[in-house]
Amino acid sequence: MSGPAEALPAPVITLDGPSGTGKGTIAGRLAAMLGWHVLDTGALYRCVGLAAVRRGVALDDDTALGALAAGLSIRFDGERVLLDGLDVSTDIRTAAAGEHASRVAAQPAVRRALWRLQRDAVRPPGLIADGRDMGTVVFPEALLKLYLDASPDVRAQRRYKQLKDKGMDANLEILARELAERDRRDRERAASPLTPAPGAVVIDTSELGIDAVLERVSTTVRRMLPNALPGTLSTAQPERPSN
Ligand code: DC
Repeated sequence: MSGPAEALPAPVITLDGPSGTGKGTIAGRLAAMLGWHVLDTGALYRCVGLAAVRRGVALDDDTALGALAAGLSIRFDGERVLLDGLDVSTDIRTAAAGEHASRVAAQPAVRRALWRLQRDAVRPPGLIADGRDMGTVVFPEALLKLYLDASPDVRAQRRYKQLKDKGMDANLEILARELAERDRRDRERAASPLTPAPGAVVIDTSELGIDAVLERVSTTVRRMLPNALPGTLSTAQPERPSN
C-alpha cells in the first residue's frame, strides 16, 4: 500500500495515548465543546477482535483478519456501536474484548483495512480522533496532536475504580499485570506502535483529575483554534502506511 492520501474534508485533532488516561472522556467533552464529531478508534479494533473470535479466525492470522476487517460494517449510533447491524456496545467493552483488540491491532493487514475507514470518518466541521496511532500514521496532517499519558500504577487504579463503580469484580494486581502486557504489546508491535507523534503536545495526567485535564486540553486547543477553522486545512499529502 503506497501513494499519497487525499486531502481531508475537515480539520482533525488527534488524541492518542495508552488506556486509563481519560482519553475517551476528554475526546467526548472536547468534541462537545467544539461541536465536532468524535471517532473512538479503539472501538473499531474491539469490533474486529470480537468478529474474529465469533467467526473462529485466529487472532494472529494477518491475511484472514485483514479480509475480515475490510468486510465488516461498523457504525456508531450515538453511544451505540453496531457491528454488521447488531448492537455490540456492551460486548466490546469486556476485558477479554480489550485483550482480543490489542492482539488483532498488532496485525498490519487489520491496520491497513481500518486506515481507510478512519480517514473516511472525517466530516465537517471537524473530527476528534481518539486512538493510538492517530497522530503518527492515520492523520499525520492533523492540525493539532495531543498525547495523554499517566503512570502505569495510576492507570491501573483508575481502571480498578471504574470497574468497582460499575459493581463489577476486580483485582488490582491482575489489572496492573494485564495493563502492563497490553502496554507492552501496543508499544512494541512493528505496525504503528503507540508513541507520541512528532510535534504532539504531551500531557501527563497522573496527578490530574478529569476536569484539570480538560482545562489543559482546552487551553491548548483555544490557542490553536484559529488554525483549526475549516478552510485553513493543511494541504500536505501524507503517505499511506506501508506496514
Ligand atoms: O482504546 P481501547 O482500549 O478501546 O483500545 C483497544 C485496543 O486497540 C488497544 O489495546 C490498542 C488497540 N488500538 C490500536 O492499536 N490503535 C488504535 N488507534 C486504537 C486502539
